[in-house]
Amino acid sequence: ARIGVVIPAAGQGKRMGAACNKLFLALAGRPILAHTLALFEASSQVEEIVVVGSEEDLANIRTLIQEYQIKKVSQVTLGGKERQESVFAGVKALNPAIQRVAVHDGARPLLTLEELNRFFTESEEYSAAIMAIPLKDTIKRVDEKGQVLETPPRERLRAVQTPQIFERELLEDAHRQCAIEGFLGTDDASLVEWLGKPVQVLDGMLENIKITTPEDLWIAESILKKRLRKR
Ligand code: CTP
Ligand code: MG
Repeated sequence: ARIGVVIPAAGQGKRMGAACNKLFLALAGRPILAHTLALFEASSQVEEIVVVGSEEDLANIRTLIQEYQIKKVSQVTLGGKERQESVFAGVKALNPAIQRVAVHDGARPLLTLEELNRFFTESEEYSAAIMAIPLKDTIKRVDEKGQVLETPPRERLRAVQTPQIFERELLEDAHRQCAIEGFLGTDDASLVEWLGKPVQVLDGMLENIKITTPEDLWIAESILKKRLRKR
């Protein structure tokens, strides 16, 4: 209950190669970002949503929020060059009364309400928790020339997703410290880990993919079609 949500949406979608930010591309007839926002709008545990956008997208994001009647968005705030900067800006923009923050990529529109609410409930007892899934592929660590250094045991590896949830103070501290020290992580939990604080891994969802390249778009379309058939 009383969870604040930060949706980083300030990327450029370079790997998608579209003419605009990939989050405006349509999936089953509406923009990717509209799917993502509708999900958090629908969760009774979510009190406030802050969306983070790039300068050129701010107006279009505001229009999208109006069009799809997302009422929990309190602010659309300006992001930075790195995802980490965007999330930090979003956390700072949350109402001071919010004490727990979930961060979720705008580019992960396929998470279901059921799984989101399950995650919110299971994560309640932890000051930091993340969604992750077992790996299908074997992972190898390599040197600069591509020679294998080691093959870590797969059972102990996880592919990390969002949402990631944190006590607000912990997340804000981690972002502040990392900004000062110049530590750049690829997810928010890594900043908390950098502080030396524990992070709990909870079950993620196979279908909760990040829409990154054009193939992901048709995979996402077929996942949504399958869901429609099942209803
Ligand atoms: N993001 C952000 N600010 C940035 C970079 C990324 O808010 N400076 C957001 C993206 O909009 C996306 C999420 O973080 O919702 C995950 O990033 P990613 O999938 O890498 O998206 P992009 O950075 O837009 O894509 P690319 O890396 O291919 O350019
Ligand atoms: Mg990126």
